[in-house]
Amino acid sequence: MASNQVIAATLVIFFTLLLQGNNNNVVEAQLTTNFYSTSCPNVLSTVQSAVRSAVKSEARMGASILRLFFHDCFVNGCDGSILLDDTSSFTGEQNAAPNRNSARGFNVIDNIKSAVEKACPGVVSCADILAIAARDSVVALGGPNWNVKVGRRDARTASQAAANSNIPPPTSSLSQLISSFSAVGLSTRDMVALSGAHTIGQAACRTFRPRIYNETNINAAFATTRQRTCPRATGSGDGNLAPLDVATPASFDNNYFKNLMTQKGLLHSDQELFNGGSTDSIVRGYSTNPRSFNSDFTAAMIKMGDISPLTGSSGEIRKVCGTTN
Ligand code: HEM
Ligand SMILES: *[C@@H]1O[C@H](CO)[C@@H](O)[C@H](O)[C@H]1NC(C)=O
Repeated sequence: MASNQVIAATLVIFFTLLLQGNNNNVVEAQLTTNFYSTSCPNVLSTVQSAVRSAVKSEARMGASILRLFFHDCFVNGCDGSILLDDTSSFTGEQNAAPNRNSARGFNVIDNIKSAVEKACPGVVSCADILAIAARDSVVALGGPNWNVKVGRRDARTASQAAANSNIPPPTSSLSQLISSFSAVGLSTRDMVALSGAHTIGQAACRTFRPRIYNETNINAAFATTRQRTCPRATGSGDGNLAPLDVATPASFDNNYFKNLMTQKGLLHSDQELFNGGSTDSIVRGYSTNPRSFNSDFTAAMIKMGDISPLTGSSGEIRKVCGTTN
């Protein structure tokens, strides 16, 4: 009798833990690192060499591809939806506010896809090509390496409305940043680590103008320098670019966090991570310990890549990334 009760209690605990294990928004998907190892054994080397040559001709392209992956995953999961081009009868995500005049790198992904299609037609999804290319971009700029989980399929739809509401704008407060990441199952620590992606790439004047003219938690000399190529008046120089990491914009390193500690974050949202709030200690930690940043960043990239993938017979394997089959 007593031992039956022990067994019953053990089963209750077991199933409770099992249910809790699935109780978050990052779906435990069937993605694996070896999904294409027999169906398309050269996919990794094909993507890697294309990314290397794209980054060699323009370092910023690595940043642009990394950002595309983030903007894909935050909008109904990592399903290649951002890659779908608008047509007269289809409105996708590319003209949503966070992407319009800003998201770039589509040609690189399209060209990789056609090279992969030649070797293994109809096998590798655009969503997976983007995930692999994002990793290769980080590595090509000197950042950490990790094994990319694959097996995603491509969406047949996209959502401009979801892109507008799910991708956080640079005007976000710390609590808004925390909640937009939490909405897709990512922790505050994941959010800070992933923001370290701003160690590479560029931002347009329109995204940081209010910060360099109106904010007080900014290094004065840094603000003056940025004002030189970003005029105060809306409509002039809106697209002028400045590096997100003032120190080493083409190297994937932890200087982004060091910049935040000297009030040289370019975006309002960047400086929110070190502005007297709960994430100050995380920023301080990453600024002194690049290995802890690298390991948290890679873990968070894998977690972001697990957001709601299409698997099994959901979605499709697109023939070209810009349009559904
Ligand atoms: C935490 C919230 C985030 C906000 C508010 C944000 C906002 C922005 C903005 C406004 C830009 C400049 C866009 C432009 O002017 O064209 C930018 C660029 C960029 N973002 Fe973020 N971002 C965030 C998180 C992330 C994450 C999680 C990643 C990737 C893991 C990422 C990767 C990048 C990269 C690499 C660039 C440079 C792109 C290029 O040079 O083409 N960002 N971001
Ligand atoms: C600075 O703030 C003032 C007052 O809110 C506003 O009118 C002005 O447009 C802002 N300037 C910039 C460059 O954001």
